[in-house]
Amino acid sequence: MKQVSQVAQLKQEIAQARAAGKRIAFVPTMGALHAGHLSLVDQVRNDDNFVIASIFVNPLQFNDPSDYENYPQSLGVDARLLSDRGVDLLFLPEPEAIYPEKPNLITPEDIESNVSLGLEGEYRPGHFSGVLTVVSRLFDLITPDIAVFGKKDAQQLALIKSLVSHQLATGRRMPLKIIEGETVRDDHGLALSSRNARLNPEQLEIARTINVALGACDGKADAESAIETAKSMLSDEIKLDYLEIVEPATFQPVSGDYEGSAIALFAGYVGQVRLIDNREISIKGR
Ligand code: PAF
Repeated sequence: MKQVSQVAQLKQEIAQARAAGKRIAFVPTMGALHAGHLSLVDQVRNDDNFVIASIFVNPLQFNDPSDYENYPQSLGVDARLLSDRGVDLLFLPEPEAIYPEKPNLITPEDIESNVSLGLEGEYRPGHFSGVLTVVSRLFDLITPDIAVFGKKDAQQLALIKSLVSHQLATGRRMPLKIIEGETVRDDHGLALSSRNARLNPEQLEIARTINVALGACDGKADAESAIETAKSMLSDEIKLDYLEIVEPATFQPVSGDYEGSAIALFAGYVGQVRLIDNREISIKGR
């Protein structure tokens, strides 16, 4: 696996891969890798693809400076994991490569998405602009044919799909297919997250109630009873930001008479660590 931090060298490697008839498959990350990230690599690693992973802890998407400062970093281990998994090139840009000048922030409004800006948008002001801006910039540099994002960040994934649709429709981008990666969980159902590394054993136990609570929403007659049941199953030690049942295409909370597929979403704090998770569920109807 090659490691590249200069844009000129990145472009040279991409040109060579294309000349060899390869498609460019891209796995963006912020490092502190776990099995969830590696499963994204597995989705695109095949003989037709030249797989590029990036590690860039994007300051623009952290609304909380202490979250940015404490974000776990493990570059040496990450590079070995990616290499062992068959990644062809690891892009490790310096901030100046991503933001050579003050970035023109892409806001969710700019991409005319019908995805709700509540939930993470409400609790982390500016977060999605930071994500959309860095993802668009990375797409500009890497020009991927395929890019993979995990379903654990479900609202982020929906907004990135909107970003790509908008850029394709406005001729801003060449065809690009977004692939979705399933959430990977530990043996107790806790969604893997880079932030789990900051939990002590007691906090891990507390965090494991999140998945149980979200799972309990499945098959309930309506969103209200699903939310009530789920909240009663969450550890009292968790400081909840939200637990919502939303409609999958728009992330709008569903109303009382809704029936069908939905997503149960959680965000909250275990100690100082903010975790999110979600489960695809079905609301049976009254
Ligand atoms: O999901 C993440 O790790 C980040 O939000 C992403 C997509 C790499 C952008 O910084």
